[in-house]
Amino acid sequence: MIKAITGTKDILPSEIFKWYYLEEIVKKVFNIYNYLEIRTPIFENTSLFSRSIGEETDIVSKEMYTMIDRSGNSITLKPEMTAGVVRAFIEHSLGEKNSLNKLYYISPMFRQERPQAGRLRQFHQFGAEALGSNSPFLDAEMIEMAYFILKQLGLKDIIVKINSLGTNQSREIYKKELRKFLIDKKDKLSDESKNRFEKNILRILDSKSELDQEILQQAPSIIDFLDEESKEHFEEVKIYLLELNIPFEIDTKLVRGLDYYTKTTFEIISNKVGAQSSLCGGGRYDLLIEQLGGKSTPGVGFAAGMERILLACENENTFNFSIRNIDIFIIRLDKELNLKVAQIASYFRNKGFIVEYDYLNRSVKSQMREANRLNSKFAIIVGGEEYKRGEIILKNLSDGSQRNFQLNQLNEIIDWVK
Ligand code: HAM
Repeated sequence: MIKAITGTKDILPSEIFKWYYLEEIVKKVFNIYNYLEIRTPIFENTSLFSRSIGEETDIVSKEMYTMIDRSGNSITLKPEMTAGVVRAFIEHSLGEKNSLNKLYYISPMFRQERPQAGRLRQFHQFGAEALGSNSPFLDAEMIEMAYFILKQLGLKDIIVKINSLGTNQSREIYKKELRKFLIDKKDKLSDESKNRFEKNILRILDSKSELDQEILQQAPSIIDFLDEESKEHFEEVKIYLLELNIPFEIDTKLVRGLDYYTKTTFEIISNKVGAQSSLCGGGRYDLLIEQLGGKSTPGVGFAAGMERILLACENENTFNFSIRNIDIFIIRLDKELNLKVAQIASYFRNKGFIVEYDYLNRSVKSQMREANRLNSKFAIIVGGEEYKRGEIILKNLSDGSQRNFQLNQLNEIIDWVK
């Protein structure tokens, strides 16, 4: 028996309405903020990701699905969207057409991580990128949009965390200080942090080890090393968030797992999804476009994990979709009437109603049961004495009331079932 690959998941019809619901809210909110959708390919040249996300990050060094195709090119299934969006932005000179490009996406992503609740190898993100402005209002707008979507979904137990990584220059000074602070404590750090000490020292701040975190308590804070420009930018982001009544915490250890960030980083965390608590994350990346060969252009964005959000919704009990309602279930009393039933179904489907009938030659009783199971609002009953008189019965299944209609005047039913 061939099974789905570990870390991938089928989305079954019984779950699909949650996804539609989430996608609808996401599209509505991005539309309100005037973001337009962009769709980039599922796979890209591997170098796009290593050059943007960073060679030493977990994503690039151990999580990417990379393969050599039949032409000998190294290609990678996208582990995130920002790199692809920036590639497309440069390739199609979008910056020349519009000075500010506000883009959004909904797409599957691929990372070979150890699967657990809320962590998959194929997962889905929605997200947004604004390319072309260094306004702190856009940093805040990203947080506001993400927060707005999560609130619209009914999530309550969420926390916004923000930080600033400053400019490259200020960050380098900070890294030196952090190195100075950690050098004589290095041996006590976890193996992973020892490794990061050499390769990507900032990521030690992200460590999950309790002992590491204890050591880090006295560590210098990145916020204290911000240059004037970054400090001012961070202040403005905070003021805007305060004005918008978006509660936030400053987390000076929030460095994120991708190397392209400058200045603002943020995450929204849920207390209701276990270890994989980050529902969304993002930040500013003012150097990335230039780094990938484009004209120097600032950018800011975020992405959210849709499986995690749906898990949080389930755990907070914010919605409960089991099955959708249908409008009409047509019940036939005699098997000879199958063709008539199909015609009536076709008539109402053409008018836009969701219509179902029995294809399994079931008894009248079990057709009725099926109509109820499908939460049908109405039943149309075809057959018996009424049919001989050229009539059918329309039954309202919520209150049990019913009315007869002429078979040749189905249009009269429309007003009743609307
Ligand atoms: P990220 O933090 O790597 O950022 O991912 C964003 C979100 O995707 C996470 O907060 C999480 O909800 C979800 N996610 C990540 N990995 C998995 C996984 N294995 N299974 C399930 N969900 C997952 C980025 O991807 C950046 N591109 C965000 C960004 C956009 N920054 C600027 N613009």
